[in-house]
Amino acid sequence: MAVRVVVGAQWGDEAKGKVVDLLSQNSRYVVRYAGGSNAGHTVCTNGKTYKFHLIPSGILHPHVTAVIADGVVVDLRALKAEMEALAEQGVEFSRLRVGLGAHLTLPYHRQLDELNEARLEGRIGTTRRGIGPTYADKAARIGLRVADLLDPERFAMLLHRVLEVRNRVLTRVYNAPPIDEAALRDEFLAHAEWLRPIVADVPAMLMDAVARGEPILLEGAQGTLLDLDYGTYPYVTSSHPVSAGACLGTGIAPNQLTEIWGVAKAYTTRVGEGPFPTELNNEIGDYIRNRGREYGTTTGRARRVGWLDLVALRYSARLNGFTALAVTLLDVLSGLPTLKVCTAYRYRGELREQFLADGFALAECEPIYTELPGWDADLSACRRRADLPRNAQAYLDFIEDYVQTPIKLISVGPNREQTILD
Ligand code: IMP
Repeated sequence: MAVRVVVGAQWGDEAKGKVVDLLSQNSRYVVRYAGGSNAGHTVCTNGKTYKFHLIPSGILHPHVTAVIADGVVVDLRALKAEMEALAEQGVEFSRLRVGLGAHLTLPYHRQLDELNEARLEGRIGTTRRGIGPTYADKAARIGLRVADLLDPERFAMLLHRVLEVRNRVLTRVYNAPPIDEAALRDEFLAHAEWLRPIVADVPAMLMDAVARGEPILLEGAQGTLLDLDYGTYPYVTSSHPVSAGACLGTGIAPNQLTEIWGVAKAYTTRVGEGPFPTELNNEIGDYIRNRGREYGTTTGRARRVGWLDLVALRYSARLNGFTALAVTLLDVLSGLPTLKVCTAYRYRGELREQFLADGFALAECEPIYTELPGWDADLSACRRRADLPRNAQAYLDFIEDYVQTPIKLISVGPNREQTILD
């Protein structure tokens, strides 16, 4: 049975939420494997819009167990707020599970993220959700995990140990007030009570599900080009959004993955700082931003917009081993007479067809474009690839040919039904 992964193929915000929602229909488990509340997924269905940050959007399907796996960093304040907002829309959480091994994002992680960004004058442009500091503590082996929280004595002891150092850093390096240890401990031990019934040994649960042949969907957050190792370092997030990260984050072995879906917009966007060779700082960029409503789900920031970068997309396909591509927001490009796609870079005078996963080197790359004719029709009613205008079909054919991956899903509007499935 299928273990499918959905990965963002670009810099995040590729409308993975919609693809995950569609593929959830025949999955038994939908599992978030990396990142934290920096993510923002939107699903529009039955006239309602649902916003997700930590909870897998698969929760909307009554047959799905939605899992926040050990590779995710969990901010319990954010999780509680998200659960409360979704509960108001009628979502219920008896099928939600959170991994024992997931690291906790604590208020001092958010504070440090804010202070760091202020010190660096927003040089990375993080979401300020404490993601980097949480993963840094994990690597430094001073992180606190969900399992620790369930044992009040252990939690109090570990928190005391970490705050001894943290408070010195906060007060002496940043001139910030120290964290009130007792208040923080009491607040989080209270969180433990609502969390306890939904905590699970996620690797064991998923290994059993794999052994039983149950269909599993692993839901990526962010995107390949934000991967800590393979993205445009240092302008990256602190986790592994790539398909290999799905194995690390869940405990499912690589040879169990049966499908790897890459989700890419028909153009490119980026939030935060960092190189973006095909960026459009002109009226075409504004046109795409407005039609695509390119404003962040998590931070509300206007996204940077550019032409489709096929050099980056092919890198992403090879790195992740995509078996299928989902192309989203194709409808947004309607009305542009000519479309450009980047098929090579000029780097220090040389032509180059390989991506450069080095933030500083990529900043020196100039895009070399191939021009393709645009189309003017409204695509939102198309339900088969053959229904699309000829030039839109040719645009998709060009992508498939360059990236060497079949396009199996095309999104032509925000709603679940505005989709072409091949
Ligand atoms: P962090 O993940 O908050 O540490 O931010 C690091 C970089 O990743 C910044 O450039 C963010 O804008 C970017 N980023 C983090 N999460 C997302 C996302 O869900 N979509 C797009 N960009 C993101």
